[in-house]
Amino acid sequence: MTTSKPGSAAKPDALGRVTFLDGQGELPMLEISTPWSTAEIYLLGAHVTQFKKKDEPPLLFLGQCSRFAEGHPIRGGIPVVFPWFGPREGLGQHGFARVTTWEIKEVIPAPDGSVSVRFRLPGCPETTAFSPFTADYVVTVNQSLTLQLIITNEAKDAEFTFENCLHTYFEVADVTAISIHGLKGATYLDKVASFMEKTETSDALRIASEVDRIYLNTTGTVEVLDPRIGRRIRVEKQCSASTVVWNPWIAKSRQMSDFGDEEYEHMICVESGNVASNGISLPSGGSSTLTVKLSSETLK
Ligand code: BG6
Repeated sequence: MTTSKPGSAAKPDALGRVTFLDGQGELPMLEISTPWSTAEIYLLGAHVTQFKKKDEPPLLFLGQCSRFAEGHPIRGGIPVVFPWFGPREGLGQHGFARVTTWEIKEVIPAPDGSVSVRFRLPGCPETTAFSPFTADYVVTVNQSLTLQLIITNEAKDAEFTFENCLHTYFEVADVTAISIHGLKGATYLDKVASFMEKTETSDALRIASEVDRIYLNTTGTVEVLDPRIGRRIRVEKQCSASTVVWNPWIAKSRQMSDFGDEEYEHMICVESGNVASNGISLPSGGSSTLTVKLSSETLK
């Protein structure tokens, strides 16, 4: 099934699994329902704001103070960071993809109950500063949530260089009680220590202060154990060499106008992509697909 722009009234698809409606701030969004889970996606930023398995609490953290307005990023869920990560002089942090309203190219309800939605980043004033490219984003909802960001260099004779990152905010009961596994031995840039290069020594990373780290050359699965919720979250990825771990902690939370002072206690960002020295250069006609699969299981 191919759809064009959603209208303002709720409109379910033929199988009743996808509903187009106006979300917060009257922004257009999709609600997806599968036999195993539900998900919500805003067209602003092609931003997945929620994924919830039927017998589990929500997987994603969504800030109570988030703005829902065109041109502003949503705080929580999964911001799509592209074509650059972090600040860029005179331009917005983390690129323009997360503040651009994407087009829906296709909604595919599969016979097995899964639903996939393909978005396309439309041409916008910011894209003209780059050589021609296309950016598609495919979100698949079933027992897990799979995200594919597909970048193609459409230029005839120029490289396309970019960073990408699926800036995933996970909901946790108490950030001081969780542990993050799979990064031991990795080199990271410690953004709270002026980007000092360090090596991760722990197989069970714990959060007890502001953490803002770019782990380089980390292609393996990362897990978040949340003993209070009783859940293990798994982040599996392909074509992702970087993992960013972020929690703003107390002082930074107070500085962020779209984030509650105590919300840092209930979130952890484990972000998958290709940033800093792991940025990507695509030759003419080349394509790269960043794939991230998020799944979870109840701890016994
Ligand atoms: C993380 C960065 O990915 O995103 C942090 O490493 C940054 O430095 C955080 O503070 C949030 O960024 P923003 O622009 O959404 O406030």
